[in-house]
Amino acid sequence: MEEQVDNIDLSRKEGLHSQFGEVEDIGGDHYRSFVGPPNYYDLVGVTQFNLLTLFGMRETSSLLDIGCGSLRGGRFAILYLRPGRYFGIDREEWLIQDGLQSHFGEEQVNRRQPTFIIDEDFTFTKFDRKFDFLMANSIFTHAPQWQVSKCMTEAQKVMVPETVFLATFFESLDGTDYEGEEWLYPDIVRYRKETISNIVNDAGLDCHHFEWPHPFNQKWIAVTLPGIGLDVEKALSGHVYSYEAALERRRTETTWPGSATN
Ligand SMILES: C[S@@+](CC[C@H](N)C(=O)[O-])C[C@H]1O[C@@H](n2cnc3c(N)ncnc32)[C@H](O)[C@@H]1O
Repeated sequence: MEEQVDNIDLSRKEGLHSQFGEVEDIGGDHYRSFVGPPNYYDLVGVTQFNLLTLFGMRETSSLLDIGCGSLRGGRFAILYLRPGRYFGIDREEWLIQDGLQSHFGEEQVNRRQPTFIIDEDFTFTKFDRKFDFLMANSIFTHAPQWQVSKCMTEAQKVMVPETVFLATFFESLDGTDYEGEEWLYPDIVRYRKETISNIVNDAGLDCHHFEWPHPFNQKWIAVTLPGIGLDVEKALSGHVYSYEAALERRRTETTWPGSATN
């Protein structure tokens, strides 16, 4: 049975587009400070978007933004992607509402047609579709192992061979893993690389660790279905933007960007 996709109303709070949360504490009830240090709201958002395009996100791609919050990164994707290609999931409805109002307003939301689901169980199948890209920025940095595992298991259900799932975590400094059962926020949790790889592999997925800047030194992974052979180095070299890549597209008659998931 098809699941109902919730309609998200825009926030009715006034002047959100000119409030930048300068004096708010991290984790406070301002849409910027709730998701992290407000003075890094711009950079933490744009690094997600840049990385998605390096891994090949085109305007026809579909993106699932896991724990999308106030659209710190999602706002760039919502503008870039063709209408109806952005999907966000979070447990906090007010964050999405405030993000939509501050970044877009009603006319732009109607034009860009992002879709949202309020959910805290990572039930991505509620969207009733697959995705070309998944992003989980600053989620596993607060999540217990069982939630990382649940997220991976659910992600596997909405991925196709071409899908790239990008995510961050904080690396362990002392060789131990967070063993608690709770989501910690604004506190953070840390994991060893092997622990993250094992959780991803247990969900039937491949895990590629790679170096890419993050303002808080979060570490990046790219997750794919097994045996895909993702060329991370080539992606990070900026190949997708190159003349060489354009020539390859001409040769393969894929000049217009496509999507494996429609
Ligand atoms: C640190 S913020 C990151 C938000 C966003 N990814 C970004 O980069 O701005 C963590 C987000 O995860 C959301 N969250 C926490 N637990 C969740 C769960 N179980 N399911 C979905 N979202 C969750 C929070 O509401 C918050 O928006």
